[in-house]
Amino acid sequence: MKIEGKEYRTIWFENNVVKIIDQTKLPHQFMIKELKTVKDAINSIKIMEVRGAPLIGGTAAYGMALAVKENNDPEFIKKSSEDLIKSRPTAINLKWAVDRMMKKLSGINSDQILYIALKEAKEICDEDEKFCENIGINGLKIIEEIYNKKKDIVNILTHCNAGWLATINWGTATSPIYHAHKKGIPVHVWVDETRPRNQGANLTSYELNEEEIPNTIIADNTGGILMQRGEVDMCIVGTDRTLSNGDVCNKIGTYLKALAAHDNNVPFYVALPSSTIDWDTKDAKDIPIEKRNSEELSHVEGVDENNQIKKVLIYPKKSKSINLAFDVTPAKYVTNLITEKGICEASTEGLKKLFNK
Ligand code: MRU
Repeated sequence: MKIEGKEYRTIWFENNVVKIIDQTKLPHQFMIKELKTVKDAINSIKIMEVRGAPLIGGTAAYGMALAVKENNDPEFIKKSSEDLIKSRPTAINLKWAVDRMMKKLSGINSDQILYIALKEAKEICDEDEKFCENIGINGLKIIEEIYNKKKDIVNILTHCNAGWLATINWGTATSPIYHAHKKGIPVHVWVDETRPRNQGANLTSYELNEEEIPNTIIADNTGGILMQRGEVDMCIVGTDRTLSNGDVCNKIGTYLKALAAHDNNVPFYVALPSSTIDWDTKDAKDIPIEKRNSEELSHVEGVDENNQIKKVLIYPKKSKSINLAFDVTPAKYVTNLITEKGICEASTEGLKKLFNK
């Protein structure tokens, strides 16, 4: 999608290095950063220069290629794969991508190994882009249906950033929105600010602005009253890990939004590529929920009058805080899942049927 009118993907390989858009600087500064080693890739995931489940997967895939480039000793490659998997715990795309890379590389010790690793990493990214595009084509039907009934602007609420910046391109939750906009359907997006890191305000609103899609940032607690007032036609969110029973793990606060949607008969959709489905974990209690530094709560970042990024403390110095990054929305509150293969019920039957499992 576009930034200042120029088309980008979130990650690419160029001049022998991996290039990413540094998301910690957005929306105030647009900076492209180079990743030269597997350690760079691990660090970039940890400090969230790249984030969002599909993009974490894509970065991990390129991280494996960088490991191969540094040292193609199988022990080094194996250790790198383990370190990558540990870099963030909740998004399943990370392990999925590393496992796929390891499978591709196993037993290869020819001169071809780097070429094979880079090719597979690119394929993982290309596939994600295609899957997200298909999510958009499938989700467009839902928006179109609402528009055909309402004959007026479709108001869509989203949480966090499940936009193109969280994927390779298109986004998951935003892809149906981009497709609707391209088709001329009038849409307006309520963007949850998404404390503490403000991915909604900093990233979703930013990318929607760049594509000229009308949007309004709201405090995370505002969604409820908007739904009570009939000002939300549908919610679409992304996910970091969806279990085979349809339970959805996503950015903290998603669950509360789903409860409000349920109470107000607002349809609540979750958009995801199949790489985000965890077919193995059976109980949501077993999903590792990332606990991040409480400084993300106690401090906020913004730009000063000289356009310099500044971080300031907003809490009492002696107060404690806890920063859980994700929660789980039980399948019963999810209207449907929107995937690259089509739309299905958030249930074991729904997912099994769609994915022939
Ligand atoms: O902590 P983040 O910014 O990586 O969390 C991102 C989300 O929760 C997204 O909603 C999710 O990864 C889906 S991305 C298409």
